[in-house]
Amino acid sequence: MKYLDAVISEVLRLYPPAPSTDRICVKDTLLPAGEYSNAITIPKGTIVQAPIVGLHTDPQYWKEPKKFDPDRFSDENKHKIKPFTYMPFGMGPRICIGQRFALIEVKMALVHLLHSFDLHPSAKTKFPIEYQTGANLLAKGGFWCGLTPRRV
Ligand code: HEM
Repeated sequence: MKYLDAVISEVLRLYPPAPSTDRICVKDTLLPAGEYSNAITIPKGTIVQAPIVGLHTDPQYWKEPKKFDPDRFSDENKHKIKPFTYMPFGMGPRICIGQRFALIEVKMALVHLLHSFDLHPSAKTKFPIEYQTGANLLAKGGFWCGLTPRRV
């Protein structure tokens, strides 16, 4: 189950269904200069986007960011992830309320699928995935996967 959890975490890093989230600034706020940025004042009323997928694939924070590597989330490695660089469910007081439910749901679905089928690319599977334009990360033309019944 630990490895399954690491695999799902890595899928959510590379393919976060919500690739960005936003907030409205409620008072003029000075953000101090950081390692890579000058100080900036964000005026009240500004909509601020948090680029979730950008943070998840930024080479500043992830070694070989495009590589699918669940070991990033192993017990030995997960504490090395810099806070706020991994947030598939958002962050703060408005973090996804369904996070735990979603993770259990995905694990249950995978366990049932893998119990009965071998999963593999099909003739319609596109790799690399092409994305639709829009607020959510969706595969253009749908996501296709081959299923072969297992003899159990
Ligand atoms: C893998 C599945 C899911 C992902 C990746 C996801 C991701 C997100 C993200 C990024 C946000 C915005 C959080 C923020 O701005 O800080 C959000 C909000 C929310 N999500 Fe999810 N979500 C998932 C599944 C679910 C499920 C299953 C439910 C309900 C059963 C749910 C209910 C909500 C609600 C109600 C909010 C708004 C929370 C608020 O504004 O206080 N989500 N989700």
